[in-house]
Amino acid sequence: MKTSSSFLISSQRVVTHPVAALFLCIAITFSLESASFAADIEAGKQKAQVCMSCHGPAGNSEIAEIPALAGQTAQAITTSLYHFREGNRKNPVMSPFAANLSNADMNNLAAYFASEKRIPAPYTPSAESLAQGPELAKKYNCVQCHGAALLGQQHIPRVSGQQHAYLLAQLKGFKATTRYDMDGNMSSAASMLKDNEIEILADYISGLH
Ligand code: HEC
Ligand code: HEC
Repeated sequence: MKTSSSFLISSQRVVTHPVAALFLCIAITFSLESASFAADIEAGKQKAQVCMSCHGPAGNSEIAEIPALAGQTAQAITTSLYHFREGNRKNPVMSPFAANLSNADMNNLAAYFASEKRIPAPYTPSAESLAQGPELAKKYNCVQCHGAALLGQQHIPRVSGQQHAYLLAQLKGFKATTRYDMDGNMSSAASMLKDNEIEILADYISGLH
């Protein structure tokens, strides 16, 4: 009697674990979804005024080294802000502006900037980049993760129509592993790029509208 009931308990435990894990996943997805759903665009817009001195009107950057935020995916913005705040991703200019943001601030800012329309800075890629860029973006799976039009998805940032100098610096940084990379995927993608391929990709991608 005793043995069979302890067997029952232990076999139940085996079953409970994956079920609990599944429930946990559902709970996390739910809270992430409701968090972004509950994000307050108006509050984000208020809080975003200070950001615009660098990231441009409505998040359309007019400075080559500073990324546009307008039309970026909300999750990519929240994720970046989180890593700046926690000191994982570091930048002497940007980090102080993330240091005191609450989770709600980050969600609201992300919802606001994601809702704005991207107006890419005027940029004309070379004929060589226009010819070779699409091929390279396929060859190195950029389109697999960043989406067919490189508009980003979930936590993977939109890169299409981004400031050229910023893109170039990030790609070089990933390759040199000096740019923080949350899961190692991007550094491993960049590690395969030759220097001239980085130039071509940054040139081509900045010109995408
Ligand atoms: C003084 C200028 C400055 C201000 C003000 C500023 N930023 Fe930044 N921000 C930067 C720079 C420079 C970078 C690029 C850092 C790097 O190269 O890693 C950046 C990067 C970012 C990124 C990462 C974008 C990406 O594509 O990876 C986000 C998100 C961001 N800033 C949001 C904000 C928000 C929100 C605010 C306002 C609360 C803000 N920034 C205020 C200069 C600034
Ligand atoms: C396996 C998925 C994956 C592949 C393949 C991939 N990326 Fe990424 N990329 C990411 C992720 C995830 C990030 C965000 C990393 C972080 O901030 O920690 C990122 C970030 C970037 C950034 C920085 C954007 C910003 O706003 O800061 C650029 C630029 C970029 N990728 C370009 C490329 C290019 C060009 C290729 C092809 C050569 C490529 N990626 C291939 C997943 C991928």
